[in-house]
Amino acid sequence: MISKNTIDTVFETARVEEVIGDFVVLKRSGTNMKGLSPFSNERSPSFMVSPVKQIWKDFSSGKGGNAVAFLMEHEHFSYPEAIRYLARKYNIEIEETEQSDEQKEQANERESMYLVSEFAQQYFQDVMHNTDEGRSIGYSYFKERGFTSDTIKKWGLGYSPEEWDAFSKHAIGKAYKLEYLEKTGFTIVREDGRLADRFRGRVMFPIQSMSGRVLGFGGRILGNDKKVAKYLNSPESDIYHKSKVLYGIFHAKQAIAKKDNCYLVEGYTDVIQLHQAGIENVVASSGTALTPDQIRLISRLTKNITVLFDGDAAGLRASVRGIDLILEEGMNVKVCTFPDGDDPDSFAKRTPHDELVAYLDNNAKDFIQFKASLLMDESKADPVKKAGLIRDMVGSIAKIPDRIQREVYIQEVSRIMDIGEQVLVSTLAQLVSKDVADADKKHKEERWEQTMKPVQDEETPAQARINILDRLERKIVEILLLYGGTEQDFEDVYIKYDEFGKEFEFTEKKTYKVYERIFLNLQEDEILFTNPVFRDLYKAIIDFYVAKQAMVVDEFLNILPQELQYEATDVFMQDEKYHLHEWEEKQQIPVKSKSQSVSAYTTEHIIDLRWLLLGRLIQDLKMQVSPDADNMEILMSVNDYNTLVNYLSRKINRLRSGFY
Ligand code: CTP
Ligand code: MN
Repeated sequence: MISKNTIDTVFETARVEEVIGDFVVLKRSGTNMKGLSPFSNERSPSFMVSPVKQIWKDFSSGKGGNAVAFLMEHEHFSYPEAIRYLARKYNIEIEETEQSDEQKEQANERESMYLVSEFAQQYFQDVMHNTDEGRSIGYSYFKERGFTSDTIKKWGLGYSPEEWDAFSKHAIGKAYKLEYLEKTGFTIVREDGRLADRFRGRVMFPIQSMSGRVLGFGGRILGNDKKVAKYLNSPESDIYHKSKVLYGIFHAKQAIAKKDNCYLVEGYTDVIQLHQAGIENVVASSGTALTPDQIRLISRLTKNITVLFDGDAAGLRASVRGIDLILEEGMNVKVCTFPDGDDPDSFAKRTPHDELVAYLDNNAKDFIQFKASLLMDESKADPVKKAGLIRDMVGSIAKIPDRIQREVYIQEVSRIMDIGEQVLVSTLAQLVSKDVADADKKHKEERWEQTMKPVQDEETPAQARINILDRLERKIVEILLLYGGTEQDFEDVYIKYDEFGKEFEFTEKKTYKVYERIFLNLQEDEILFTNPVFRDLYKAIIDFYVAKQAMVVDEFLNILPQELQYEATDVFMQDEKYHLHEWEEKQQIPVKSKSQSVSAYTTEHIIDLRWLLLGRLIQDLKMQVSPDADNMEILMSVNDYNTLVNYLSRKINRLRSGFY
């Protein structure tokens, strides 16, 4: 684990505007900076960075947070990956904690293996560009395949010379340890003790992790010798797990997230060629069926996969089987085939960009439909085959976790294969009997609800109240975030009785920190916020104030999970939003100063919220009253709460007349 100390240093050093500036062009605008949102394809800037507060907010997508949150969103880093990235950017040494000596050694070992791999990548690249052999064999091979020099550079392609031990010797000469050369598979120690390079006379494709580190290589022979395996890959190691990486993911991740779709191809060259053709949301499984780990890697970015199949029909049936696994992970799968004899590489190479995009759009078919029609063609006239096919299809459908989607597919397949829905449903039932029972029940319930429920166009009173509640809860959170640490005078009004038993109001002024005041007031009724996001945020804010007594924006954001960060940055950036409108509409919009009467503002909102929440509580209590039980306790509570509501109502009236 990265030590707290290192994380603190990273946060102290990293400047949000510098970190984001590496990815987004930012222009100064008053105290803030603005730019085009990297998360959408907008034309006018709605992406804001506040160097003062050290936060950013993207008003087009609602995302926001600190520097680390930006890297997690934009680069899809995990939290530790983001910290490591920043540490590298700012030359901060990473201190690891809570590691046993063994763990430390392992971490060092992995790091050493990464370094060897990065060194190798540099070496293969150098050899290709700067030696005669490299240029005439390696570089010209890539050129012949239609790769531009920019493409060759972008993918870090290289060449391993046709010699026994050129790389091993070179690396050892540069003080890389044999141990790591062996563990990464670059060097093989022969029985007679001599060293041999794994990759010799091959063009080299570095395989990168999601965050861009080199994990291993694929090395291709130059000719088309059918007797030799075309590709030789790095062996499995502590840093390279074939089943957990996807070729191209580093360069594709942003496009995948942006397009909300991932094209899946088989080979290295397919990925590279498509990128060069302007389709960047594409990765390769490197010739095997996708593994669950690989699917999960994609599902961090999108739920939609489009599998691109080579044009040979023979491979199709086999490949189709692997796809059930993708369905099982809850992804939506489409497939697209190419004309006979074409693979994505050759097709992309000879097709102009617009045509290519149109082809992919027009030919991507829903997987289940695709499979049904593919198999249908083969077994039209053969009833036995057809029966097998039906079971096969239903098998695929059974993999889909979402019941409603399964139902839709059943209808589709019934239509395509011209067979009764009932037959399909009962076959499905054998496969997922329990699930189906539930699905059926739910289906019936939904039907019932649909037919029985009166049509409702407008908000019901209950819905309206929920919306008001939502707004109020958000307001309270806003007040807490912006003014929670400030001290304000609050009035407490007590009801007292004079010596004649006459009621009178007694007012007391007291100074509170705003967060204390809110906390105390809300605690009085022992009620929770109804919106879970605001409830969690509320708790986090109070905890933070209790610990620190004041709001420190970046520190606070740091402890929040991502969804809460969105809400919180939204609030912090409220004022900036006004400025944003100014840029866009080129007109002055007066910014209302809320802090003028923070205490009045706070009191008003707390009372409104308590009043509404209490109303709900009373309603709930009343629902519990049953004809055949002793309801005394409930009724007494209702009575108490009603008194409180009346009291609050009076206060609200007084506040309203006083402040509006
Ligand atoms: N592959 C492999 N080992 C092999 C053959 C293939 O690891 N002996 C993997 C590679 O990742 C390769 C992918 O399977 O990229 C797809 O194989 P293929 O379509 O044969 O390779 P292409 O990438 O299309 O290579 P090329 O176009 O250069 O023939
Ligand atoms: Mn190919």
